Amino acid sequence: AKKKTIFDLTEMKKKGEKATWITAYDFPMASFAEQAGLDMILVGDSLGMVVLGYQGTVPVTMDDCIAHCQAVRRGAPNTFVIGDMPFGSYQVSDEEAVRNACRFLKEADMDAVKLEGGRRVITRIKAISDAGIVVIGHIGLTPQSSGQLGGFKAQGRDVKSARELILDAIAIEEAGARALLLEAVPPELTEFIAKKLTIPVYSIGAGLPCDGQLIICGDMLGMFQAFTPKFVKKYANVAEIIINAFKEYVDDVKNMRFPEEKHVYRAIDSKEAFEAL
Ligand code: KIV
Ligand code: NA
Repeated sequence: AKKKTIFDLTEMKKKGEKATWITAYDFPMASFAEQAGLDMILVGDSLGMVVLGYQGTVPVTMDDCIAHCQAVRRGAPNTFVIGDMPFGSYQVSDEEAVRNACRFLKEADMDAVKLEGGRRVITRIKAISDAGIVVIGHIGLTPQSSGQLGGFKAQGRDVKSARELILDAIAIEEAGARALLLEAVPPELTEFIAKKLTIPVYSIGAGLPCDGQLIICGDMLGMFQAFTPKFVKKYANVAEIIINAFKEYVDDVKNMRFPEEKHVYRAIDSKEAFEAL
């Protein structure tokens, strides 16, 4: 299939066609996502937890993100891929935010960048957008500021915080963002924002009534074992499959059942060769 553009994604919203995205961090997963026909791939800074083993996303660096984005692009050359701006790459100034956003395009051929926050990062969104880069906003549960939120907690569950998120969403669209991701907020709030905004509004843990869904590959495949958020649907238990395969291999080696005849290279005249010695 032809690679989607931000115009295609906006058009899908108008038609009520749901967009699908998944996270991926390496070549094989990206290739599987493209073969499965996903509309978008996010190279999330969740890579810190899912593939690097950190407790949160805060330690992830720009260089980590670029390396993983490059691998994903090689695996999914025809998919809309989004680079996730890691903590510290856009907090200091508009200038630094633009410089780092540019790296995602120049070094890893990304189609867009995503950053966390509402009105507090509005000049960043505008600056990156003014640089000609497709920006995607992300509000609700924002893992990079989970310290301020008191942990990985659902957001927008009372009138005051729901209204703050609506104001954030409107400001994000006005600043030039081309899509918005809502994380862990009630579906009623998601529906209101999705109808209010012209740009596509996507959910991760934010319910059904919006323009598409995102899920973390490690969660849905059962590869991330530390914890499973309420909003995750587990489609497979890949950890179990891998562990069982490893155990079978160990058992085979210990009992000399592997390698078998079909796995070895026979020499045509080995007998003759060794006889001479
Ligand atoms: O890093 C990531 O995967 C994300 C999602 C949790 C939205 O930002
Ligand atoms: Na992220």
